[in-house]
This record gives sequence, structure tokens and C-alpha cells, in this order.
Amino acid sequence: MTVCKIDYEAPQGLLDGRVILVTGAGDGIGRAAALAYARHGATVVLLGRTIAKLEAVYDAIESEGLPQPAIFPLNFEGATLKDYHDMAAALDKEFGRLDGILHNAGLLGDITPFAQYDPALWEQVMQVNINGPIWMTQALLPLLEASADASVIFTSSSVGRRGRAYWGAYAVSKFATEGFMEVLADEVEHLGTLRINTLNPGATRTAMRQSAYPAEDPGTLRTPEDIMPTYLWLMGPDSRGHSGEAFDAQPPRT
Ligand SMILES: NC(=O)c1ccc[n+]([C@@H]2O[C@H](COP(=O)([O-])OP(=O)(O)OC[C@H]3O[C@@H](n4cnc5c(N)ncnc54)[C@H](OP(=O)(O)O)[C@@H]3O)[C@@H](O)[C@H]2O)c1
Repeated sequence: MTVCKIDYEAPQGLLDGRVILVTGAGDGIGRAAALAYARHGATVVLLGRTIAKLEAVYDAIESEGLPQPAIFPLNFEGATLKDYHDMAAALDKEFGRLDGILHNAGLLGDITPFAQYDPALWEQVMQVNINGPIWMTQALLPLLEASADASVIFTSSSVGRRGRAYWGAYAVSKFATEGFMEVLADEVEHLGTLRINTLNPGATRTAMRQSAYPAEDPGTLRTPEDIMPTYLWLMGPDSRGHSGEAFDAQPPRT
């Protein structure tokens, strides 16, 4: 049984002065998280592959008079180690540290019998959902270690905790995410300043959910905004002391 903090009430200045990177910040849950973090005081680095979407989030943050965000266009498909290190150098120059990463960008791939799974698509899903985020995290470790209190959240899924037929590379990438979280959390435990956890949003009204369950009525689902309390709790100082753990953003649906 994982812990869910959907009833958490984040204090207004929860993330004041913190620099937080959100991947896949242009849409869905990442967009909602970037806005929620900015509204609680964070300077948010918006990373994604569609610049127009990132700019729209940037404008929304600016129009509310929140801390000025930064945009970092990056496509995990095709991104190289050099891109991650260039990114680390740019963030180091601008901020000198990183107080959090929400690894949220994700690709669904196909929901299809394994016998028919396209190997090229499998590789693509693994690249976006696990390999890219891993090497990005490696490049950013020194910046996370420079923070007095940093939180790294990897986005999981219920199919990354219990396998389900036809979910192929997506499920496998999320199992790998859970495993990597445990490995890294154990490695950095001695620092005492860096938390690494996974968060499963649960069924949430986004484009990805719609493409996985086209017949579902989206009106029956929680919105990205509804599930932000757990995202705020896990990113902010109230979750200090928790690392190497798997969390849920909402209770299981009945
Ligand atoms: N929604 C759910 O019910 C649910 C349930 C369990 C887990 N999740 C997880 O929650 C996370 C967010 O999903 P969501 O539902 O918000 O999906 P979404 O609306 O499809 O958003 C996914 C985000 O990832 C970005 N992205 C995709 N491929 C990318 C790439 N190659 N490089 C950089 N960014 C890329 C997308 O950018 P573009 O907009 O530019 O394409 C988009 O901003 C994912 O990790 C997903 O696996 C969601």
C-alpha cells in the first residue's frame, strides 16, 4: 500500500527560492505541476519538445506575476549526453544549483500484444521514459548535490508496479523507473540532502490517458490540477526524510 497526500494543503511559500526542473512541462500533468510549483514560489525550468507549448506555460506563469521561469527545449528522442551536460552547464551558470526535478515527460507507445510490438517503438519508449531521464539525472547530480534540500521525483504508473498484458515497453519502462529510483536513493542516502522517490499520478484527465482509454468518459477522471497536492508535498520540505519510496498522487479508483 503506497502513501497518497491528496489532502495535503501546501503553505503559500512552500517552494520559495527553489529552482525546479519539470520535464514534459508543456502539457498535461507537467503543465499543471509547473504552474503549481511556480504558484508556490519556485523558479521553474520548463523542459519539453514542443516549444510553442512551453512558451504558453511560460506566458501563463509570467501573466500571474510569478517567479520568471526558464525554457529548455529538449526532445528525449535524439538527445545526447552532450545535450544533458550542456544543459547542466547552463543551469549551473544561471542558478548554481537545482532543488528539484520532476521527471514527468513520457511516451505511451503501443498497447498491443507483445508478439506484435514494434522493436523500434519499444526502443523509443525506453529512450523517452527511462534512458534519457537517467542520463539527464547523472549530468545534473552535481547541481542537486549543491542544494541544501533537493527532491527528485520520477513519474511511475500502476503498470510499473504490477505488470499488465499488452502494456509492453511503457510498463517495462516504469518498472525500470521504480528500480532506478531505489538504486539512486540508496546511493545518495549518505548525503542527507537529496531525496529520490517515485510518484504514480493514477488515472488523470490528459491526452495520454485519452489515447490509452479512448472509450472512457474523461469527465469521470481527476484533472491534473486535482492531483497537485501530492506533487507539492513530495517536492517541498514537508516530505524531508522520505527517500527510496513509491507514492501515489490519488487513492485507487473504486
Ligand atoms: N494521465 C494518466 O492517467 C497517467 C497515469 C499514470 C502515469 N502517467 C504518467 O504521467 C506523466 C505525464 O503524463 P500525461 O498524462 O500528462 O501525458 P501527456 O499529456 O501526453 O504529457 C506528456 C508530456 O511528455 C512530453 N514528451 C513526450 N515525449 C517527449 C520527448 N520525446 N521529449 C520531451 N518531452 C516529451 C510531452 O510533450 P509534447 O506535449 O510536446 O508532446 C508532454 O508534455 C507520464 O510520465 C505518464 O507516463 C500518466
